[in-house]
Amino acid sequence: MDHKALIEAALDARRRSYSPYSGYRVGAAILCGDGTIVTGTNIENASYGATVCAERCAVFSAVASGKRDFSAIAIVGGSGSENDRTDDYAFPCGICRQVLREFADPASFLVIVAKSPDDHREYTLQQLLPESFGPDNLSEKENNDENQAV
Ligand code: THU
Repeated sequence: MDHKALIEAALDARRRSYSPYSGYRVGAAILCGDGTIVTGTNIENASYGATVCAERCAVFSAVASGKRDFSAIAIVGGSGSENDRTDDYAFPCGICRQVLREFADPASFLVIVAKSPDDHREYTLQQLLPESFGPDNLSEKENNDENQAV
């Protein structure tokens, strides 16, 4: 999977952003281990704190459809009205980094922030969330939890 296809999927998801309050439209596309792409967009709320970011929307949608093996996420965000590019590199917020950490291998999972399919930067999750707290810290509980079975 080349990055361009993943960024294009994120740009397409961004078209469906519901962001009447901030006007900042974000799209995300997560690449699953089986080669499929699951997308998400930011969904705002009149009660501002109920807003969900595009990245978490994508992760939660993927997990709800039975996928937990992820290798990369592309993120596009900005206030501009163009649909094929953005005016900003939209880095994932701290909460979204932590949600990605739950399912991703920090050393190999790629976070691709893009303005367009031809203009992107990439980082490992480890670079964006060093010294993180994750499932391994609770491994005893994990091993005892029947809900971990897919
Ligand atoms: N937003 C995201 O979708 N992802 C992030 O990582 C940062 C922020 C959204 C939330 C809100 O709808 C808008 O951007 C402005 O904060």
